[in-house]
Amino acid sequence: MPKSPSRTFNVAVIGAGAIGLDHIRSFKQHPAARVVALAEVSPERGREAADEYGIETLVTDHRELLKRRDIDIVSIALPNFLHAPVGIEALKSGKHVMVDKPMATSARDAQKLITAAKKQNRRLMVGQNMRFSPEVQTAKHLINQGKLGDVYHAKTCWTRRSGIPRIGSWFTQKQFAGGGCTYDIGVHALDRALFLMGEFDAAAVSGQTYSQLGPLGRGDGNWGKGEIDQNAKFDVDDLAVALIKLKSGRTVLLEASWAAHLPERDFFTSQVFGTDAGVMLNPLRLIRPSRSGYITEQIEPTTPLVNENRMIHFIDVLLGKAEPYVKPAESLAVQKILDAIYRSAETGREIRIK
Ligand SMILES: NC(=O)c1ccc[n+]([C@@H]2O[C@H](COP(=O)([O-])OP(=O)(O)OC[C@H]3O[C@@H](n4cnc5c(N)ncnc54)[C@H](O)[C@@H]3O)[C@@H](O)[C@H]2O)c1
Repeated sequence: MPKSPSRTFNVAVIGAGAIGLDHIRSFKQHPAARVVALAEVSPERGREAADEYGIETLVTDHRELLKRRDIDIVSIALPNFLHAPVGIEALKSGKHVMVDKPMATSARDAQKLITAAKKQNRRLMVGQNMRFSPEVQTAKHLINQGKLGDVYHAKTCWTRRSGIPRIGSWFTQKQFAGGGCTYDIGVHALDRALFLMGEFDAAAVSGQTYSQLGPLGRGDGNWGKGEIDQNAKFDVDDLAVALIKLKSGRTVLLEASWAAHLPERDFFTSQVFGTDAGVMLNPLRLIRPSRSGYITEQIEPTTPLVNENRMIHFIDVLLGKAEPYVKPAESLAVQKILDAIYRSAETGREIRIK
């Protein structure tokens, strides 16, 4: 019989949209977690989720849950503009906070989250789930073992041909999303590359963003459960590119698109280049010179060191069984780069980051 954990954490999930349901399912897999409450502004979506997952308390105003002393964790699956304000409220009420990506809609707000967590001595983690995949963990292990030699450059992307998370939803409105594909999927590609390189702080960022297909009603996808506003203006980016110079002088080339005339429907990879070898994801390959030319070796991902589910990992961290795999300071550094991409696109200049 597996040993039962010595304490149980009561979890409140806020937002029962597409990823909120994943938050609920994920926490429920950990024997030390109980999802006891759900906040969702849509009474229908809330009722459906609460019934399906047997959640005792359902409210439309999350503040009712923050008052409850028996709730230990708040898991935020809300439109981006609510991450920081709700996260800060939850931390101030003494809860540990798991917040989905992007951390916030500005580095200033991301910093406020970190300050609140430190002040309250609570855990804060951003749900960068891609980092946890066995493939990325194995690539990280290869790099840590020194298989690449000195790492100096990375290329990273998440590009979709027709994958805007529904035109007219909150995702395509700057007032709710803060930004478009850069914040939505660029964040994953960037976080993954910086994690593999083992360096997060950038010195300078040069970026460009486009909004070409979305405003024409093209490139629509089907992600998300929120309401559609047919009259809403599409005022976020649907394609972005950036060159990021890290403090050490290493570089990252980033590409993200929700919609573009691409051969693949949906594609992501990261390539990391070192003095001895290169590594590439999806599938995982090690590329190195040999006497007779070059060898491209496909590598089977090994059993991950850290649980590949970010919510299970978060509970393990709270139980003292794991070190946080995503640290708030890293997510803040990622947010600073994303913000700099937008500023660079607006000003036409390279942005220096302090
Ligand atoms: N980690 C990942 O891979 C991943 C994947 C998808 C989405 N996300 C992130 O998760 C967040 C949510 O995205 P989604 O796809 O679930 O969106 P969604 O539109 O499907 O769901 C958002 C839900 O929040 C609800 N909501 C809005 N305001 C609320 C409030 N004040 N109180 C309670 N409920 C409220 C909406 O009614 C909706 O049901 C976004 O920040 C997104 O970037 C992360």
